[in-house]
Amino acid sequence: MKHIYIETYGCQMNFADSEIVASLLQKEGYEVVSDINDADYVLINTCAIRDNAEQRIRKRLRELRAVQQRHPQLRIGILGCMAERLQSQLMVEEENVSFVVGPDAYRQLPSILARVSEQGVKAAETELSTTETYADIEPVRLGSNGISAYISIMRGCQNYCAYCVVPYTRGRERSRDPETIVAEARSLFEQGYKEVTLLGQNVNSYRWKTEGEEVGFPELMARVAEISPMLRVRFATSHPKDLSDSLLEVMAKYDNICKCIHLPVQSGSDRILKLMNRHYDSAWYLDRIAAIRRYMPDCSITTDVIAGFCTETEEEHQMTLEMFRKVRYDYAYMFKFSMRPNTYAEKHLQDDIPEAEKTRRLEEIIALQGQIALENNRREVGKIYEVLVEGESHRSKERLFGRNSQNKVIVFDRHDVMPGQYVKVKVVDCTAATLLGELCTQ
Ligand code: 5AD
Ligand code: SF4
Repeated sequence: MKHIYIETYGCQMNFADSEIVASLLQKEGYEVVSDINDADYVLINTCAIRDNAEQRIRKRLRELRAVQQRHPQLRIGILGCMAERLQSQLMVEEENVSFVVGPDAYRQLPSILARVSEQGVKAAETELSTTETYADIEPVRLGSNGISAYISIMRGCQNYCAYCVVPYTRGRERSRDPETIVAEARSLFEQGYKEVTLLGQNVNSYRWKTEGEEVGFPELMARVAEISPMLRVRFATSHPKDLSDSLLEVMAKYDNICKCIHLPVQSGSDRILKLMNRHYDSAWYLDRIAAIRRYMPDCSITTDVIAGFCTETEEEHQMTLEMFRKVRYDYAYMFKFSMRPNTYAEKHLQDDIPEAEKTRRLEEIIALQGQIALENNRREVGKIYEVLVEGESHRSKERLFGRNSQNKVIVFDRHDVMPGQYVKVKVVDCTAATLLGELCTQ
C-alpha cells in the first residue's frame, strides 16, 4: 500500500478540496498518513491569493529537501491554486516537485501518482473544467473534530475583481446538484456532526437549473436547515453586490441557520470599489448592512479588507476606516494589497503605494478593528447563548470552548460537559477575540 501525506494552505475551499483528494486516492488503495516520514507522496494543496502565500510554499519546499534526503523515494506534488497559476513551470523552478495538479484535475491523481513512481517522470495536469464539481465524491474528513464539516456547494468564480487571481486559478463558476449537497449534509448529521458550513466563492450566485427545477441559494439553505433543528448551518462567502433579502428572510426563519454573515467590503471608497470592479458602492454596502440588521438584529458581521490598493489616497484610506466605524465588524481579515500576475490590476494599474505606507494603513485598520471587536464583545457580557461545544480550551484541560450562533468563541469551565453538546453559557467577561462564560445549570 502507498502512503500519502496531505498539507493544506489557503482558504476553507482548499481544505474541502483536500478531503476530496483524500477520498479519491483512498478509493484507489492509498492510505492517508499523519506523519510525513511514513509517506511515499507529499501533496501540498496551495494558495496563490497573495505573493506571501506562494513564498510560504516555496520555503516549505526547501524544508522538504531534508526529508527527501532521508527518504529518496518520496515524491512531492503541488495541488491547488499555485499549481494552476504556474503549471509545469513550477517543476522547473522547484526541482524537488514531481507533479503539479490543478483544482479541476484531481480525478487524475491516481494515474499521475502511478506514472510518476513507475516511469520516474514528472507530470502536470492543470486543465480547468466548466462542469467538474466532484459532486459524487464523499469527502474523507481530515483532521476533523467530528462536530463540524465543510461542504463545497460550488466551484470557480467569474466576478473578476481587479486584484484577484481566483478566476484564473479556479475557473468558471459552476454549482453542484442540490440533492447531493443535502445528502452529504444528512449523512454528516447521521454520523454525529452538528454543524455544516456550505462553501463557495460567492454563494449568492449558487443556482442549479434543470428542466422544471431551479434552486437558488436561499432555497438550498432552507433544504439543508430542514434536515434537523439540531444541525447548525453556516455559509461563506457572500458578495455584497448580490446579498439578497430572500436569503436574509430564510436566515431569520430558521434558528439553526447561524446568525453570522461574512461580507467582504474590500474598501470604503467608491472610487476604489469601482477600480476594483466590485459592482457596488459604499451606499449599497451600507444598505445591505442595514437589511441584515433589520432581519436579524443579533447577526454578527465580518469582512475582508485590502489596504493600499493601486492609487489609493490617504483620504480613501480614511474612508475605509470610516466604513469600519459605521459597520462595527465583529471580525475582519485584513490584508495589504499584493499585485498578482494576469489580473486586471497587473495589466492596467500601477502598484504605486509604497510598502511602508501599505503597512501603516493596514496597521491603522488593525488597531481600529481591535478596538471595535473589544467594544462589541463587552456588550455581550451578561447575555446567555446556546453554545456548540467543540473541544478543550488550548490553555487548560479544565475548560472547554465552543461557538455561539454568531460564531464567537466562548470559553467556560467544563463541569461534565462533552464536546458535541449544545449548552447554555452566560458571558461574564471578554477579550477582543474571546468571550469568557459560565455554564448555566438549567
Ligand atoms: N492582495 C491582497 N488581498 C487580496 N485578496 C484577494 N486578492 C488579494 C490581493 N491581490 C483578499 C480579499 C479577499 C480575500 C480572500 O483575500 O480581501 O476577499
Ligand atoms: Fe482559496 Fe483563493 Fe487561495 Fe485559491 S487563491 S486557495 S481560492 S484563497
